Amino acid sequence: MKSYKLAILAGDGIGPEITREAVKVLKLIEQRNDIRFELLDAPFGGHAYFEHGHSFPEQTKAICDAADAIIKGPIGLSYEESQKIPVDEQPERGALLPLRARYQTYANFRPVSLPKSLAHFSPLKPEIVGDGIDIVIVRELVGGLYFGHKEVGVNQQGRRYVRETLEYDEEQISRILHVAFKLAQRRKKVLHNIHKSNVLKSSVLWNEVLAEVAQDYPDVKVVQMLVDAAATHLCLNPRQFDVMVMENMFGDILSDQAGGILGSLGLMPSACLGPDKAYYEPSHGSAPDIAGQNIANPYSMIGSVAMMLENSFGMFEEARNVWDAMQGVFADGYSTPDLSKPGAGVKMISTDAFGDRVVEKLKAMPRVAG
Ligand code: NAD
Ligand code: IPM
Ligand code: MN
Repeated sequence: MKSYKLAILAGDGIGPEITREAVKVLKLIEQRNDIRFELLDAPFGGHAYFEHGHSFPEQTKAICDAADAIIKGPIGLSYEESQKIPVDEQPERGALLPLRARYQTYANFRPVSLPKSLAHFSPLKPEIVGDGIDIVIVRELVGGLYFGHKEVGVNQQGRRYVRETLEYDEEQISRILHVAFKLAQRRKKVLHNIHKSNVLKSSVLWNEVLAEVAQDYPDVKVVQMLVDAAATHLCLNPRQFDVMVMENMFGDILSDQAGGILGSLGLMPSACLGPDKAYYEPSHGSAPDIAGQNIANPYSMIGSVAMMLENSFGMFEEARNVWDAMQGVFADGYSTPDLSKPGAGVKMISTDAFGDRVVEKLKAMPRVAG
């Protein structure tokens, strides 16, 4: 029997609520397959700072180092709570970015998927959504403005100033582009390259490297698009996109917009892959506005588990079953409140009821051998 260690970083806000549902699904996957998951819970985020003095404690680093994969809930506090923590220990700067840097998880896959049966959840008009939306945003995750040199100080005029630099070298650019081209090759062979080369030198270099990398993928058509225009195209004609690739900050912003065109960030899972380690997290945050109410949508977290099955353990059929189980719950007319618009005839259910229904659906599906 195969056995894997999984670090479970439940995180802040809705993190523990949605992680609990993901763990329910993991337990069922163990029962249905010849596999064991050793679940290693570890503190990470704002609560870790208050309880252990650091938002990414040493013990958590050791658990992550030893794990075969990491499941991570969202971290972060409300603005007011964040102010109680020194700036560099706040969970985003003190835990999340160091996690990404530690394992160089440069390839962030953010699927933007609304199958036909869920198309009605989109706030876009039915004629725009058509048979559904199926995009993958490939976001570079360990470079750019997030990780460039930063300084704050007082300038010669006596004014407080800040300097943050957007840095990429050609190797960082080419490795993420190879990932995106390979994905495009397996899908519709169209790659939208999102950039701002009319202003940013970083985009000029990015596009030079792209022209070189593209030679290896002659079967993939590249479509060049400026990031501001891409924001509009995502609203007006999202179905033109299949794979989109972009640098870190653009990917942060456009992926949240993509969650908006689906109808909720709760439909946005993700996979963050590095050379030796991968971690899986929803694209969204800790949603302090709805935390503790058992109303968050766990699809993003359970979907992140499905992405782990695919990417870390090669369990493609079982991952497909998990997606189908979740979509089946929606198809039965149920959803968490983020997607239940008044009068739309959707039966509103809680976070844990959604997880229970996913488990029931999955139980009813044929077991996968091996
Ligand atoms: P958010 O993504 O937490 O929430 C934005 C909106 O989406 C809120 O109205 C929220 O209720 C809703 N939402 C998000 N996930 C949902 C879900 N699963 N089900 C239903 N509704 C959902 O963004 P924010 O409020 O700007 O940020 C809150 C905190 O999260 C901040 O501290 C931020 O830094 C952090 N954050 C962390 C991550 C991460 O851990 N990867 C990602 C984004 C934001
Ligand atoms: C995300 C988040 C993070 C980011 C924050 C919390 C640092 O918004 O994963 O999209 O900006 O990358
Ligand atoms: Mn974000």
